Amino acid sequence: MNIYGYDINKKGLHQGDVKIPEAMGVVAGGVFLAILSIFRIYFNLQDLANEVNKVQFFSSSFAIGFALVLGYIDDFKNLSWRFKILLPTLPGLCLLMTYTGGTTIIIPKILQSTFNINPLIDLGWMYKIFIFLITIFCFNSINILAGINGLEVGQSIIITLAIITHNLIQITNGITLHAHISSLCMMQPFLATSFGLLIFNWYPASIFIGDTYTYFAGTTLAVAGIHGHLSKTMFFFFMPQILNFVYSLPQLFKIVPCPRHRLPQFNKKSGLLIGSNDMNLVNLVLRWHGPWSERNLCKFILSFQVLCCILTLVVSNAKSYNLHNL
Ligand code: UD1
Ligand code: MG
Repeated sequence: MNIYGYDINKKGLHQGDVKIPEAMGVVAGGVFLAILSIFRIYFNLQDLANEVNKVQFFSSSFAIGFALVLGYIDDFKNLSWRFKILLPTLPGLCLLMTYTGGTTIIIPKILQSTFNINPLIDLGWMYKIFIFLITIFCFNSINILAGINGLEVGQSIIITLAIITHNLIQITNGITLHAHISSLCMMQPFLATSFGLLIFNWYPASIFIGDTYTYFAGTTLAVAGIHGHLSKTMFFFFMPQILNFVYSLPQLFKIVPCPRHRLPQFNKKSGLLIGSNDMNLVNLVLRWHGPWSERNLCKFILSFQVLCCILTLVVSNAKSYNLHNL
């Protein structure tokens, strides 16, 4: 297929002139779907899956497979933003139709006492719209917090580790076992295949993971969050992506001109990156910190991701522990 890209953040150096194979996420995605099918065959043979699990498995596999194909087409053809925002509606609807989790939210204590309202509110269909929007958001969110070696896979791995930890804590507490086990079954092969990619995509990258991986990763994380009944917790795991998305909105909606690549500028002499005026987290960090090496910039953004995940894990599990012991 001859899908390749140039490492833009090394422009002018020898490394910047070398063709780097892109769309390598297709390997990770293919292996992931194969392992997921083996899990499912095993569960069916052992009679461990009920009808809901089976339907959810098909909807998840469809959504993830669809994202993978779409990403591959994007790497090949470079789709327009209109398409990228519209196409995840299909996997989103698919997941929504098979959602079996709660639709209730807990109102913070301060609001309960101020407005004298119930601590639990059932949002019904409004909650399902929230789930649908999560899928569309996740589908695109990893792809737009991108462009420096290791960042896309790095953030996906950290969120995956956070979801796995959350599932394990909830299983230990005996909360909604089936949902958390199904989420874990999805996250383990995803973690393994992503690590395989990170080894080659870490600075200096010898492969690019392409939109094939970013869409596949976003959708897989959304599926694990939705079917694992942790969509609210996911919202906070994705805090760096949310900040990046909100800050990017003027460019995504073309209120401010949006170039094909919103990458920093590379200073060949110093070997450091400088923040451009493009509105994303990568440039914002660079404008705040000053010139920085690609590797350290990536480590810094990933550390922020780790911090968001740890804070979310502490707060959400302390809350569920309290609820469980009421
Ligand atoms: C998204 C971003 C775009 C960013 C691009 C880079 C938005 C709206 N779009 O576009 O701003 O420039 O991702 O991933 O935010 N590349 C590198 N180094 C890397 C990773 C990628 O130089 O570590 C370059 C390579 O030339 C590669 C290309 O980015 O070929 C891939 O870009 P692509 O994924 O097709 O861009 P988009 O997803 O459309
Ligand atoms: Mg991309």
